[in-house]
Amino acid sequence: MPPGALPVRQLAAHDVDELTETAHKILADSGSSAARPELLRRVATSATRLGETIHRACRPVDTDDGLYVLRGLPVDDGDIGPTPSSWATAGDSAAAWDVILLLLATAMGHPIAWEGQQEGRFVHTIVPSPGHEDEQTGASSTVLLSPHTEDAFHPGRAHLLLLACLRNHDAVATTAASIRKVRLSPDDVALLSRPVLPILPDDAYTEARSYTAAQPPKVPVLWQTGSGPTLRYDPAYTPLDEAPADYRAAYDRLTAELERVSVAVALEPGDVLVVDNDVVVHGRVPFRARYDGTDRWLKRASVRVPGRRSRPLAEADEHGYGQTALVALV
Ligand SMILES: [Fe+2]
Repeated sequence: MPPGALPVRQLAAHDVDELTETAHKILADSGSSAARPELLRRVATSATRLGETIHRACRPVDTDDGLYVLRGLPVDDGDIGPTPSSWATAGDSAAAWDVILLLLATAMGHPIAWEGQQEGRFVHTIVPSPGHEDEQTGASSTVLLSPHTEDAFHPGRAHLLLLACLRNHDAVATTAASIRKVRLSPDDVALLSRPVLPILPDDAYTEARSYTAAQPPKVPVLWQTGSGPTLRYDPAYTPLDEAPADYRAAYDRLTAELERVSVAVALEPGDVLVVDNDVVVHGRVPFRARYDGTDRWLKRASVRVPGRRSRPLAEADEHGYGQTALVALV
């Protein structure tokens, strides 16, 4: 994305102080950033007390870009320790950032987690991991992480995705493409609005991938809401071979359009990218992992926005492959 084109919401110095001081206090009282009920309660209470300017910075996405960057939070590269080699060994690494991200997520809605992903944690660690280089998950590196809706297989997927950058020495770009910028013919829109194919659980969900209790539900890729076109898209986990040729051709044209409007955002340490998961598909360019403790390191939180009506009613009947979203009630 050209400089200046990215919607940036700059946090003022007093907002940064308030967020970091609140996070450190919660962390000191809790002893760990693991989101136990007590910590989530503290975050919920504290988030309501955050200043008006922080809440204003956390207002809904308000442009067709479908995203924004919260900027201004500092990261001391020497302080955060080495990049963990996988989410499983991350433990309490850069724990204050877990709490900061949860505070921001709670100012936007309800943070969610998944029993089947990263042991139910509310803040995920995104780092390249040995042995996972070629996967279509956040642990990969050498492959293009194809643009996708986060947790597209599930009706309880997030409305918002928060990606906080702690380290990115190689300026590895996150990609984002907004359906609001795509041009498609009315015929293609009509085709892709039909529930023709399922979206299967991704490789991050071992348990859900072996779910056999019921048939995978067929879901539309596109639909209209009051605020504009909306999508649910994950080609890497969509069995396109099973669709008629005209549907596949329309899907391919959507893919090409998403590529055309895609922007590359090289997040800087301290940036928090906020993506509207109903409007934008995100991905990541390929890169060579270092595996020496200095790799790209992101933390991710997912948010559901109460009262938001951006999904087809039929989603309520989907089984979600046996996965349940854990919602931090506030
Ligand atoms: Fe993702």
